[in-house]
Amino acid sequence: MRLVMRLANILLIGMAVGAVSAAPGRADPAAGQAAFDGNGCADCHYTEGPARELTIADQLAKKGPELWYAGSKFQAPWLEQWLQDPKPIRSLKYNSLTEDNPGDHPSLGEGDAAAVAEFLMTLTSDVVEAGVIKPKRNPKGRLVFTKKMPCSGCHQFPTKKKFSGGRTGPSLVGASERLNPDWIYAYLSQTAMFKPVRMMPVFTGLLSDKDMQAVSAYVANFK
Ligand code: HEC
Ligand code: HEC
Repeated sequence: MRLVMRLANILLIGMAVGAVSAAPGRADPAAGQAAFDGNGCADCHYTEGPARELTIADQLAKKGPELWYAGSKFQAPWLEQWLQDPKPIRSLKYNSLTEDNPGDHPSLGEGDAAAVAEFLMTLTSDVVEAGVIKPKRNPKGRLVFTKKMPCSGCHQFPTKKKFSGGRTGPSLVGASERLNPDWIYAYLSQTAMFKPVRMMPVFTGLLSDKDMQAVSAYVANFK
């Protein structure tokens, strides 16, 4: 009997210690998922992969970007901050080539933003290999981005003055804080996994693997 009580005590203490160490002031993903659903985020974003949009009609029916690989694409501190103060990323309205981004994305309070970011960071894609791309301003990447390929024709990027580039793609200004460098490379080299339907051209076959890595490192260093 005593032994049983002792064991029970040890177990209880163990659980209590576990509970304390598991919650150092961070939200948990389940609470984040509840906040995601409760705030209507799922009306415009889907969070389970693989990609569901298979035709242009499917893509046009989407009200917001897919988030099923958000944990591989974004950097957690950026995500938590952006959810509280969502400044436009695409200069044009989602799925439009003519209208400006209205800049009316819903925002979350600090607590919900932390919980939702925690949840979104659990949504990862296993095609994204970690530790391949180191952000770096490099001449080869710069050549690909601004001359060899038309990247800059569709994407805004930082320059000495402020920024330049086209507006049809998402802005890449601030990519060093927003995007995971390894995701950029995975996105360029295995585009169809993430975007079966897309406006951006596929560069596999046009760019060598080395060039893709160089341009990924270059984009990943954009301030
Ligand atoms: C009415 C539709 C709508 C709702 C509701 C909505 N979003 Fe969005 N979301 C969008 C659109 C459109 C964009 C693209 C914004 C841009 O490019 O500036 C976006 C962008 C995002 C992004 C960046 C994705 C990327 O690939 O660039 C995240 C993260 C995000 N939303 C999370 C949320 C969360 C969390 C909620 C709930 C609080 C939410 N959204 C509610 C439409 C919506
Ligand atoms: C014809 C226009 C066009 C060209 C050229 C282009 N892109 Fe894109 N890019 C887009 C669009 C549009 C998207 C958004 C996804 C989609 O609809 O395909 C995108 C998405 C991206 C993203 C993800 C950004 C995000 O926040 O989701 C990166 C990174 C990127 N492009 C890098 C490049 C690089 C590097 C090149 C050159 C090798 C390039 N792009 C060339 C139009 C273009």
